Amino acid sequence: MSDQHSFETLAIHSGNTADPLTGAVVPPIYQVSTYKQDGVGGLRGGYEYSRSANPTRTALEENLAAIEGGRRGLAFASGLAAEDCLLRTLLYPGAHVVIPNDAYGGTFRLFAKVVKRWGVDFSVADTSDPAAVRAAVNDRTKVIWVETPSNPLLGITDIAAVADVARTAGARLVVDNTFASPYLQQPIALGADVVVHSLTKYMGGHSDVVGGALIAADAELGEELAYHQNAMGAVAGPFDSWLVLRGIKTLPVRMDRHSENAAKVAELLLRHPKVTQVLYPGLPEHPGHEIAAKQMRAFGGMVSFRVEGGEEAAVEVCNRAKLFTLGESLGGVESLLEHPGRMTHASVAGSALEVPADLVRLSVGIESADDLLADLTQALG
Ligand SMILES: Cc1ncc(COP(=O)(O)O)c(C=O)c1O
Repeated sequence: MSDQHSFETLAIHSGNTADPLTGAVVPPIYQVSTYKQDGVGGLRGGYEYSRSANPTRTALEENLAAIEGGRRGLAFASGLAAEDCLLRTLLYPGAHVVIPNDAYGGTFRLFAKVVKRWGVDFSVADTSDPAAVRAAVNDRTKVIWVETPSNPLLGITDIAAVADVARTAGARLVVDNTFASPYLQQPIALGADVVVHSLTKYMGGHSDVVGGALIAADAELGEELAYHQNAMGAVAGPFDSWLVLRGIKTLPVRMDRHSENAAKVAELLLRHPKVTQVLYPGLPEHPGHEIAAKQMRAFGGMVSFRVEGGEEAAVEVCNRAKLFTLGESLGGVESLLEHPGRMTHASVAGSALEVPADLVRLSVGIESADDLLADLTQALG
């Protein structure tokens, strides 16, 4: 597959070479742990053991590298497994990391409860302000971590501006691209060194798989990460890899519809008397709107809002929704909603990343927009 092809073509064809044995047009699920050798060391297709490499996972990894515009893609058992491998590759005792003041709670927990115990300290910065990131950097800073749009407050970080800060500091810029997906945003083209994904979300797209990915901009770091992926072992299984590869083929059409539906939902919420604030980068009043418009193709399917009446009122909206399923996670074809303070972001309570108690987060699916608007209207009462 040539890099010159458009995103839609790369999404469908990269890594999807016809099976040499049968001509099957999608890669088979190689549900296998080991491979017969023709004499000691005589590998037929370069495969020896499926933790090190598996053909279905290779197909996904090639696809990931192509659609993110990186040199190496690696697939893991979950988004957090990918993050863990990345951090243990880039960091060592005494190193320092800048992390955003708004990020997935599990990412913060990994830094605060696991990586910190290894003698790595971190500073929390408002990454939507490149000057604040610059101020948080010190001579031990090895990683600047950015999540844009962020979970759950939909904050926007100017990737190119923070890439400049990282370059000057001699640090690596890591961008969690889970909310946008590579169809809407290409962090490597904007200067990121590594892209992180929870494949569980838009990439899989159907709420039926847990997975993660790292995509490295340069081949040397990609090789180092691949070595650690094998050494640590939290790889994506063949069936999970196959499901994600299948999901990616429809990523562009799904993201277009997610974005259209989310824009309609945001407009409805903006006019609703019981909603005190709507957080959606597609709204002109969002503080990151201009940067989002510059670095994203569309504004995505995630919308958060605050409810008049505080925490209990927000919880009641969640409990009353019918078509929006109450549940954690996001990015599937079906709409979900949740209360971040008590659910996905309970682990950041009491920290600099604590989220407002009256916040509701929506993952707007690709159902009929009219049905979604009707459900939200009844849930708000
Ligand atoms: C932005 C973001 N990054 C990373 C993760 C972690 O991914 P996983 O749940 O696949 O481990 C999540 C999970 O919700 C997320 O929302």
